[in-house]
Amino acid sequence: MRGPVMKIEDIAVRYGDCWSIRSATITLEPGVIHAILGENGAGKSTLLKAAVGFAPRVAGTVRIEGGAGAIGMVHQHFMLVSAFTALENLVLGNEPTGSFGRLDLAKARREAEALMEKTGLRVNLDARTSELAVGERQRLEILRVLYRGARAILLDEPTAVLSPLEAEELYTTLGVLAEGGATIAVVTHRMDEVIRFAGHVTIMRRGRTVLSRPIAAEERSDPKRLEDVLTRAIMGGEPPPETSPPALAQDAKVALSIEDLVLVDAGGKRVLDGLSLTVKKGEIVGIAGIEGNGQRELVRAAAGLEPGVAGSIVLDGARLPAVRSTEDLRKRRRAIAVVHEDRHADGLMLDASVGDNLVLGELGEIDGPGAEAALITRRIERFGVYPPEPARRAGELSGGNQQKVVVGRALDRIEASPERALVVLGQPTRGVDVGAASTIHGAIVKAAEKGLAVLVVSADLGELRRLSHRILVIHRGRIVAELPPTTSDDVIGRAMLGMEDA
Ligand SMILES: Nc1ncnc2c1ncn2[C@@H]1O[C@H](COP(=O)(O)OP(=O)(O)O)[C@@H](O)[C@H]1O
Ligand SMILES: [Mg+2]
Repeated sequence: MRGPVMKIEDIAVRYGDCWSIRSATITLEPGVIHAILGENGAGKSTLLKAAVGFAPRVAGTVRIEGGAGAIGMVHQHFMLVSAFTALENLVLGNEPTGSFGRLDLAKARREAEALMEKTGLRVNLDARTSELAVGERQRLEILRVLYRGARAILLDEPTAVLSPLEAEELYTTLGVLAEGGATIAVVTHRMDEVIRFAGHVTIMRRGRTVLSRPIAAEERSDPKRLEDVLTRAIMGGEPPPETSPPALAQDAKVALSIEDLVLVDAGGKRVLDGLSLTVKKGEIVGIAGIEGNGQRELVRAAAGLEPGVAGSIVLDGARLPAVRSTEDLRKRRRAIAVVHEDRHADGLMLDASVGDNLVLGELGEIDGPGAEAALITRRIERFGVYPPEPARRAGELSGGNQQKVVVGRALDRIEASPERALVVLGQPTRGVDVGAASTIHGAIVKAAEKGLAVLVVSADLGELRRLSHRILVIHRGRIVAELPPTTSDDVIGRAMLGMEDA
């Protein structure tokens, strides 16, 4: 199964009056994993879309051996029908038919089983897609592309939603496919993945391909140097300084004490099951865990958005009252600043402008439109929101730039309001590029230096290690381990799976 060679030469893509790609040139060859890197908004997703013919290309050429049917794309946001079973989704659009043109599910199942056997990608074919875990959904998307007969797969930030173990598995699979001759391109922000798995790398910056070359075997023996070279190309200059948590006073007092939180969901499952933890003043505590183990509910409970939660949240010695009214909610917000992992549901108005989003919720706290405009400009600059246009609709920004708006707003605001005691952040840099992640980390460290207690939930263990004084592992709604940030991935990973010996 040799994949096609794809040659994309000097293409330009424009949406309305906005250039998504000014000039991109890339050749994808079969047999290697080709990593595509670049800041948020650099044009990576657009490049993949242009390759499969989904983007309004205004110049340049796209040539694919064997025609466009030979390639398939796994999108950043999955395209599965949630009411269908995995098997139904797998064959959707390519259903094998029996007599009278009827869908032959038995045949589909045999073919699907054979494909899973061959690739090692496993999903429960009878489960409804809505019941599948993120990693399974992704495997299903890849199987779908292969089922169609594609020999080239383009994946847009596939590991952004995966746990470290799942990411590892994904690259093992992609490696096997590449060795079998498939053509594979992966967009990612995670440098460790590139260094370990990619055979070729292309970097986009502000709509242009600025570097495209193979990675030599000997370069992998000096990963720090390789990372430095790639980071410079991504940012177009000096890489950002490494963050580390600020010094913590020996006698720092406990600022936050969460005691025995219990939350039962509609199906009777205890999504928080006796969760307790403490955070001191000036301390940054990281929460590691496989998605779906209660981290999202913990953040929502802290924000006062889970009225059914039992247990107590004590801040500076005073127990916070339950949130039962909008006035309660306002009080809770004054005490705790929260960034939710789902920026669309909780933090971002897609139809409002970037500027309005950057000061959302601060009505009455800013004196006059002049001060407001200045504040918006400052936040755009500080967090590198791109493009730097306050009037642009927030929904038009790339995902990473939307994240900068939400996190930047919360952190910038909290630094100016001394009465707040706690910051809780859910996945603060998910899908965010190195430069922006560094800015966000710097702001988190600064908040801790000012004496705030900080709780960070993240799927990125490297991030937790660089930021936290302590790492707590959450499993099935409770904290199962407390580890120093120097702990290896392996040990943290075992604790995340609930293994006792971690
Ligand atoms: N449908 C669209 N309409 C308008 N602008 C878009 C659209 N899609 C992407 N863009 C713009 O094109 C640029 C590149 O976006 P994208 O390819 O998503 O970046 P990346 O994937 O590298 O983060 C961004 O500035 C983004 O705002
Ligand atoms: Mg993208």
